[in-house]
Amino acid sequence: MHYLRLSVLCALAVITWPLDSAATLFAPNWNDMHTKHRWNAIPGKWESIGQPPVGTTIDLRIALKPHREHALTDAIYEVSNPKHPKYGAYLSKEQVARLVAPHSHTLKLVESWLGHHGVAPSNVSTSHGGNWLTVTGVPVSKANDLLGASYLLYRYAGTNETILRTDSYALPAVLHVHVQTVAPTTHFGSPLTPRKRPRGHRGRAAAALSTRDVLVTPAVLRSLYNSMTYQPAATEQNMIGVTGFLGQYVGDEDLEDFMRLYRSDANDPTFLVVDINDSEYDPNKPGEEANLNMQYTQGIAWPTPHVFYSVGGLPREFVPDSYTLVTNNDPFLEWLEVMISLDDVPQTISTSYGGDEQNFPPDHAMSLCELFKQLGARGVSILFASGDGGVGGTSSGRDCKKNDGSGIVQFQPVFPATCPWVTSVGGTMERSPEIAAPLSSGGFSNVFKRPVYQTEAVLGFFQQLGNQHSGLYNGSSRGFPDLAAQAVGFVVVIDDELEIMEGTSCSTPVLAGIISLLNDYQLSKNRPALGFLNPWLYGIASQGFNDITSGSNPGCDTDGFSAVPGWDPVTGLGTPDFQRLLQRLPVPIAAPVSTN
Ligand SMILES: *[C@@H]1O[C@H](CO)[C@@H](O)[C@H](O)[C@H]1NC(C)=O
Ligand SMILES: *[C@@H]1O[C@H](CO)[C@@H](O)[C@H](O)[C@H]1NC(C)=O
Ligand SMILES: *[C@@H]1O[C@H](CO)[C@@H](O)[C@H](O)[C@H]1NC(C)=O
Ligand SMILES: *[C@@H]1O[C@H](CO)[C@@H](O)[C@H](O)[C@H]1NC(C)=O
Repeated sequence: MHYLRLSVLCALAVITWPLDSAATLFAPNWNDMHTKHRWNAIPGKWESIGQPPVGTTIDLRIALKPHREHALTDAIYEVSNPKHPKYGAYLSKEQVARLVAPHSHTLKLVESWLGHHGVAPSNVSTSHGGNWLTVTGVPVSKANDLLGASYLLYRYAGTNETILRTDSYALPAVLHVHVQTVAPTTHFGSPLTPRKRPRGHRGRAAAALSTRDVLVTPAVLRSLYNSMTYQPAATEQNMIGVTGFLGQYVGDEDLEDFMRLYRSDANDPTFLVVDINDSEYDPNKPGEEANLNMQYTQGIAWPTPHVFYSVGGLPREFVPDSYTLVTNNDPFLEWLEVMISLDDVPQTISTSYGGDEQNFPPDHAMSLCELFKQLGARGVSILFASGDGGVGGTSSGRDCKKNDGSGIVQFQPVFPATCPWVTSVGGTMERSPEIAAPLSSGGFSNVFKRPVYQTEAVLGFFQQLGNQHSGLYNGSSRGFPDLAAQAVGFVVVIDDELEIMEGTSCSTPVLAGIISLLNDYQLSKNRPALGFLNPWLYGIASQGFNDITSGSNPGCDTDGFSAVPGWDPVTGLGTPDFQRLLQRLPVPIAAPVSTN
């Protein structure tokens, strides 16, 4: 029923495209510039350090709107709704490309705008699907003209991290309906901090290890979440991906030590490394975040094959007299562009990075979210950590002020956890019963509307909430997280030593591991993998989770939201029970379809 309602709403919102004949009769007024996005105050701690050197060029990416605005949304709901005849018939790369292709009129208009500014067609290339254009080698002065921008160098306080950005940009009025976003412009991409903070320093780890009962290891999790006895049987087809940003690398010797200690049945754990945009991957420089993520997906899902995406795009130190400035610093975009161009994608992907949603220009967040949707339609289950600052968002955003200069305090949602096409994971602690971990971020987006799959769940929560916190959150939008798992007391091997870590960065690889095992089961039965999870999760799978009903996620000088019966914006639907979920796996209505 929900899906029917969705398509009715869609039909009402069809965009009317300017007629071709009109466009050829009247040359558009390229000088009628309208602001696309402007900051009142630059987010984060970026400080302008002046003009870039003369001769600096920039590569601009232009996201075009698809010809058929709702085609991809309709498609992903069909293939991920267990009750739909097309359930599990995931799209190929080419099928997705056709659905998101821009109208030829959009392309013509944008090309003629670029031509008007003297950009040679040879400098313009299209990404897969043709809905992102890349314009290479644009001199900064020309980029300023094209976009009514004022590009400057900005440095993040206390670091040497330097990027080229503008505090506002504009487009000719006629292009607004055709262009989703242009990057890099106003997305400052303040460092995507891995959102765990180790409780103890290394010295304290050994002492903490003596209190065995509070520590979390793969054995604890496999027993708590009931996956201990499952033997993966589809390792020829199944794969799990783990992303690494910010120069976080997995130490392979640390992984071997970890598995020897905590998964002694698992010999020779391995993973593939895919290096994206020159990440300078080095297994001898293990990072806490990367080790944590890989050790726990392996700890749960071994011997499922693993791939580690090591994503560069971290701005290098700026050398003042160098003309080769690294201008990207948009690691999610770099990673997504590569992912959508692959013929084969892993069935499950775990990501423990994110940032306060308000620091992403809304159009930019929407463009990234569209790319996650493309991966979902391809049959990928994408899991994201919900954040570690309770209702205050990421750990760094706790003053909770809106960054529009108004000084208004509001709960801080975390992106990409708020993208409706990913599954976001909050945190719990203790056992029998598990309760919400206070660090667990959750709440409501200010950018993304509430998706139909969670309407009932969210309205059920609001009934229990009443008026509490009204004005601090946006009641019409996407609620997060969707699920939760243990988040405190994780033992990790790093540089040959044991360390205790906490955060939703811990929960996410655990849930990804469990989902990957469920995918293994489906594939071993010649069924499609689970793909975009949420319609299934909020439907028949919801009873396969342990409902968490106590604890809360304080922040912004409030007690935060409380975990209550049913879905809540602290622990979502709850923590997984692998055996109960096995009983609730979708069986496609149509004949089995092979994935990927
Ligand atoms: C086109 O690319 C070349 C080589 O990268 C560059 O020198 C030139 O400035 C670019 N032209 C425009 C208009 O962007
Ligand atoms: C920035 O670069 C300078 C020169 O290379 C170096 O001395 C300094 O330690 C760097 N600062 C930071 C915070 O990395
Ligand atoms: C990132 O890598 C992709 C694929 O290798 C490449 O097409 C793209 O130009 C790279 N981007 C940057 C900013 O280096
Ligand atoms: C509330 O969220 C919606 C999207 O669901 C958004 O359009 C709206 O601007 C948000 N309101 C505020 C005050 O942020």
